[in-house]
Amino acid sequence: MSITVVDREGKEHDFSVPTDTNLNLMEVCKGFELPVEGICGGMAMCASCQVYILTDEHFGERNDDEEAMLDEAYFVEENSRLGCQIPITPELNGLKVALAPEAP
Ligand code: FES
Repeated sequence: MSITVVDREGKEHDFSVPTDTNLNLMEVCKGFELPVEGICGGMAMCASCQVYILTDEHFGERNDDEEAMLDEAYFVEENSRLGCQIPITPELNGLKVALAPEAP
């Protein structure tokens, strides 16, 4: 499946991602060397993996830990999600996200 990630300079990156590897979106961004820190290792405790979902159909549901973290994070918008809380599945094909700014 393929996804598009817009970096903080506005450049679009199209990635083809296997769906059988148990990765999440934060890990995929890191794997493709985008500047996503993932400080907490995917525990929904740092928000350094925050992304904005740019495609209507893929917003999904925030989980409780994610909601709590986003409550305290910077630059949170309606379409914010934590990349580490988005497992890569075939249904995400066509997903487009933008990296949120780095927290001050
Ligand atoms: S990597 Fe820390 S919240 Fe996602």
